[in-house]
Amino acid sequence: MKGNLIIKNAFAVTPLGTSAVKGEKMGSLREIPDATIIVKDERILFCGASSEAPAVNEEDFKVLDANHRVVLPGFVDSHTHLIFGGYRPDEFEWRLKGDSYMSIMERGGGIQSTVNATRVAGSDELKEKALWFINRMSQMGVTTVEAKSGYGLDLESEIKMLDVIKSLEEDENLKLRIVGTFLGAHAVPKEYKGRTEEYVDLMIRDMLPAAKGKAKFCDIFTEKNVFEIDESRRFMQAAKDAGFKLKFHADEIVTLGGAELAAELGAVSADHLLHVSDEGVKAMAEKGVVATLLPLTAFALREPYAPARKFVDAGAAVALATDLNPGSCFSGSIPLTIALACIYMNMTIEETITALTINGAAALDLASETGSLEEGKSGDMIILEFDNYRMLPYYVGMNCVSTVISKGRVVSQN
Ligand code: NIG
Ligand code: FE
Repeated sequence: MKGNLIIKNAFAVTPLGTSAVKGEKMGSLREIPDATIIVKDERILFCGASSEAPAVNEEDFKVLDANHRVVLPGFVDSHTHLIFGGYRPDEFEWRLKGDSYMSIMERGGGIQSTVNATRVAGSDELKEKALWFINRMSQMGVTTVEAKSGYGLDLESEIKMLDVIKSLEEDENLKLRIVGTFLGAHAVPKEYKGRTEEYVDLMIRDMLPAAKGKAKFCDIFTEKNVFEIDESRRFMQAAKDAGFKLKFHADEIVTLGGAELAAELGAVSADHLLHVSDEGVKAMAEKGVVATLLPLTAFALREPYAPARKFVDAGAAVALATDLNPGSCFSGSIPLTIALACIYMNMTIEETITALTINGAAALDLASETGSLEEGKSGDMIILEFDNYRMLPYYVGMNCVSTVISKGRVVSQN
């Protein structure tokens, strides 16, 4: 019976396709008011009008009645720093009093502070903590999550983090799909301070080969005084040559040209983009780089929001994600992400749904596997508490998800 499910009386709402949905098409969702959804052996066998549903032997299926409430594809959180030691509430308070994120980092806090805590943490401890967050994500409807390394910054600790992600991935009882990203280029560790090129050499020589096979993506914090454009280009070209798909933390704090570099190197996504240039928007749209926007980070750092409308108007694909991490954004709230995107980034409700489903999947190169309610895709979906998807941003910051289904299994019920 594993992964066999029928949902009756569903109001199915879904984007369509097996690739990123771009530009104004992001606003189009398919709505099926009286739908039946059938998942067989973890895959969607049918999602359409109940009158057209194929006959199946219901004894072989778990049957749910949605009572005309909305069923959406499961959410994809395509940018998180889910594995980390310790917390940094002191830094949050310093920022409230006027310190900037980068000034804390420059005096040895910030990412390095979490690196210190992560290096001494055991794998079991890191895994257990990640599972605590995963449970909460699942309750908010996340059925696919990306998780980065990047708090090790030496060979042994980076691999320890990637192995924790791998062991989560291999856990049959995990409530969601997890995708690993190698982020050794998250910061220059203290022992390499002032020797960025030597740290890049180390990553290319030792870390990339060791991370290969343990992570699908390679990511970098391309930022002034972290990894500048030329250093980023050298490292990410090496990562690409080693077979990694690319992601960038781009133009988060200042306008540096990370978006243009992501386009030049054919990255799958560039993320943050609070300070992206108009040329960067255009280059990403032209090269089909998904713009992954992280409104919770802008909110928590009191920074201006990323120009979502510019990306949509330029014909780019926009994804939304949480950026859950212990520093710049200690929140994994999908409900608040939705509200901020609609209220402050002027995204429509439909665009927001597309951004958190099919485009999140595309940002992980998984759009043919998940992100929409279509035949052949993985049975990843959520039932809302309501019969109207417009409740999502309107019920500001509150969870509208009732039931979460991952690969045809009910994994969370609120
Ligand atoms: O996405 N800016 C770089 N990385 C993270 C923050 C990591 C941290 O502060 O621990 C981000 O904002
Ligand atoms: Fe991040």
